[in-house]
Amino acid sequence: MCGIVGYIGMHKAADFLVDGLSKLEYRGYDSAGIAVLDKGKIRLDKCVGRLENLKRKLGGNMPEGTVGIGHTRWATHGRPSDLNAHPHVAGKFAVVHNGIIENYLKLKEELLAKGHKFISETDTEVVAHLLEDKYEGDFEEAVKQVLRVIRGSYSLAFMCEDEPDMIICTKKDNPLVIGLGEGENFIASDIPAIINETRRTFIMSDGEIATVTPDGVWVQDVNGVPISKKVFIVNWNAEAAEKGGYDHFMLKEINEQPKAIRDTMTGRINAEDQTIHFPELNWTEEEMAEINKIFIVACGTAYHAGIVGKYYLEQLARIPVEVDIASEFRYRSPLVDGNSLTIVISQSGETSDTLAALREAKRLGARTLAVTNVVGSSIAREADQVVYTYAGPEIAVASTKAYITQLLAMLMLSIYIGRLSDTIDKKLARYLVSCLLELPKQVAQTLENTKLIEAQTAHYAQCNDVFFLGRSLDYAVALEGALKLKEISYIHAEAYAAGELKHGTLALIVEGVPVIIIATQEDIYDKTVSNLQEVKAREAEVLAIGFEGDTSLVNYADQVIYIPKTDRYLAPLLTVVPLQLFAYYAALARGCDVDKPRNLAKSVTVE
Ligand code: AGP
Repeated sequence: MCGIVGYIGMHKAADFLVDGLSKLEYRGYDSAGIAVLDKGKIRLDKCVGRLENLKRKLGGNMPEGTVGIGHTRWATHGRPSDLNAHPHVAGKFAVVHNGIIENYLKLKEELLAKGHKFISETDTEVVAHLLEDKYEGDFEEAVKQVLRVIRGSYSLAFMCEDEPDMIICTKKDNPLVIGLGEGENFIASDIPAIINETRRTFIMSDGEIATVTPDGVWVQDVNGVPISKKVFIVNWNAEAAEKGGYDHFMLKEINEQPKAIRDTMTGRINAEDQTIHFPELNWTEEEMAEINKIFIVACGTAYHAGIVGKYYLEQLARIPVEVDIASEFRYRSPLVDGNSLTIVISQSGETSDTLAALREAKRLGARTLAVTNVVGSSIAREADQVVYTYAGPEIAVASTKAYITQLLAMLMLSIYIGRLSDTIDKKLARYLVSCLLELPKQVAQTLENTKLIEAQTAHYAQCNDVFFLGRSLDYAVALEGALKLKEISYIHAEAYAAGELKHGTLALIVEGVPVIIIATQEDIYDKTVSNLQEVKAREAEVLAIGFEGDTSLVNYADQVIYIPKTDRYLAPLLTVVPLQLFAYYAALARGCDVDKPRNLAKSVTVE
């Protein structure tokens, strides 16, 4: 996610802007910039890469002005570059933006037709030109006009050369706070940027427009109705502030999953006709018809997302799929050819084995598609095509929000390909899309049970071995649950296809052995319950995960964690949440370093 800062007061704006951006570096970014109103003119300094590059570019020639905005960019539309870096300027206006403007292409066409010239590939530059286009002398009114036409998610801060004593900012679905000083005020997308200047803040809400001057902050809605804001005193320390008040990045990122899902769906789901589009792919039916096999290749959690993707693609798009661990794929001379599509999944887009597998697939003539969370990453650049997940920067080593958006991307892709190849029932496709639109709310509902899930799983923290069971999609999620527990709590955990247990591993199931069993797949539900009874008969301690309304699991399991009812295809995007929380609290109870587990790195860039 991008970082936004703004300053208006009696001091040099650039000093706060650069310092504030440095406090947001932890969020991850690929370019940085500031715009300062200097002697009535906007001075723009920005460049790709680290903040150091911007500081070097500014050198001793810091702008003098006392009004300014700044930005660290996490690329979504348009690769990392000097031109794509924010702030963006059009005429008298400068703007910084965090989020995604969903209808920017249509707005850009309209502005081009009016003679506007663009120099970047970003959706944000469109907002700057839109403001210039709407301006008729009233800055606040022009901002309101802009907000009436843009769609998507955003936190925005605007400057105008005609109004040197104000910055206007607003938000929808992205964070924005205003720091209240004495004779000066601060704007930021995140509290860490302002916490050293003031602890008195306005936490902005969706639809609020703030006019920020050195002497005060006025808040109104898009219709000009004044809004009175309560001062929120921030009592976090700087480190806690980086985690948004959560104790760890992992817990923060688990709780960001509803937003990550919404952002990854943005621009790809048409809620009116319940269809799915991938503007970035634009495959034709003929191109799709040439694909007779799909290989999915990844590592770790991304590999587990690939296993879920196999079920989706084979059942909805009716194309044979092989899923490989990247370090195996690259050396097994896979039978890949020009009629294969190889999908590589990677949060970081830099995992060495996955990158090597991508290159091997290309060498063998496959078409390649990357599903990744980092714009401009090596894998994104080398794949023929890219479907980005918009989970935002994932800091914790244990992948959570990236995984859930990978599942979402694979499900949307499978529906999209199924419709393209006419292999999916149109009614089913529309129904699944309607379920997807409910998903962010259902994940949020599941997260409301965090304390209950913590209580239900706390005693497992002292176990040495835990088994995760499931069938079909539930088995695929069991794999991820086992990895989560292992990698951050160091408890040995094993996932098993529930139907496979009796072929050996059942020998390990004795009294008191903890077994987590996921039971959401109705077509094989009775079989899964039989497996539950199988382990229960050997005195295992069983925690089941099932849908709300399932009244039978409680008769067999020692405990049940319920998730909101949804279609079986979407179950993995809900059942994984309790498993993430289980792993998190087990690691906490064992005093482990939750965000940086021993021996592990966030991105494994070596073989
Ligand atoms: C998952 O929690 C781990 N951090 C790890 O398995 C990770 O998924 C794997 O290294 C792949 O990383 P990537 O998605 O960045 O390629």
